[in-house]
Amino acid sequence: MNDVPQPRASGESAMTEKLLVFLGSERVSGPPRPARLGERVVAACMTRLGRRDVDAALIDPVEVDLPHPFKPHFAYSKGKAPEAMERLAEEIESADGYVMVSPEYNHMMSPALSDLLNHFGSSLFSYKPSAIVTYSAGQWGGTRAAVSMRTFLSELGCLPVSAMIHIPHAQDVFAEDGGYLDGVDGDRWDGYLDRTFDQLCWWAKAAREQRRRDTARPDAYTVSAKERDAPTDDASNMTDR
Ligand SMILES: Cc1cc2nc3c(=O)[nH]c(=O)nc-3n(C[C@H](O)[C@H](O)[C@H](O)COP(=O)(O)O)c2cc1C
Repeated sequence: MNDVPQPRASGESAMTEKLLVFLGSERVSGPPRPARLGERVVAACMTRLGRRDVDAALIDPVEVDLPHPFKPHFAYSKGKAPEAMERLAEEIESADGYVMVSPEYNHMMSPALSDLLNHFGSSLFSYKPSAIVTYSAGQWGGTRAAVSMRTFLSELGCLPVSAMIHIPHAQDVFAEDGGYLDGVDGDRWDGYLDRTFDQLCWWAKAAREQRRRDTARPDAYTVSAKERDAPTDDASNMTDR
């Protein structure tokens, strides 16, 4: 990914929106081939984002060292999570928006992406927008995965913008460095990607302004999921989720 425009250093401009681009692929070998097709897709996304006045940083699950067995960030006492996890939590909290890039595995988003995101609470993501980018080696471009990603990301509080990017036969569109292969109409693809990124950047800016203006936001639940249950006459019927 050497030819990808380098994102601006974090915090370079106070007025520049910060985006985190999550790569939902850690499949390092085939079949099916090519393996880790997602690297091409994410490189193409970084290239388009690099042409905007945003600070875009890539989050690669292969490079994030998460504890096993599963223990999410919010299950640790404040400041006591493993360092890599604390660092990523800070990155997520300080971001203004997210790009979620996922292959389709069995008609769902990739387990690498859902596992990574499940480690962090909605309070870090909330009141910000997200963009859904899916791809596949076959003809559907991950559209079925994208449908469930809308639900997932809404629950996290980073609301997906209406436009989405789906890339069928991604191996026939992008070269390894994320550039377009010969014979591909790059201008049309650029326009397609930009439509979603236009929406994302608009909302990221708007949401950031509003977060600054109005800091008294309704909190995510703090102790138990029951805090958001509908009122009921019979408290004994209340279940946790
Ligand atoms: C476990 C698994 C399940 C898959 N399921 C689907 C699927 O439901 N729909 C689809 O279009 N492609 C599916 N594929 C093919 C992927 O689109 C293709 O392998 C792609 O390269 C995956 O992205 P990655 O290389 O970044 O992991 C599947 C691949 C794997 C490994």
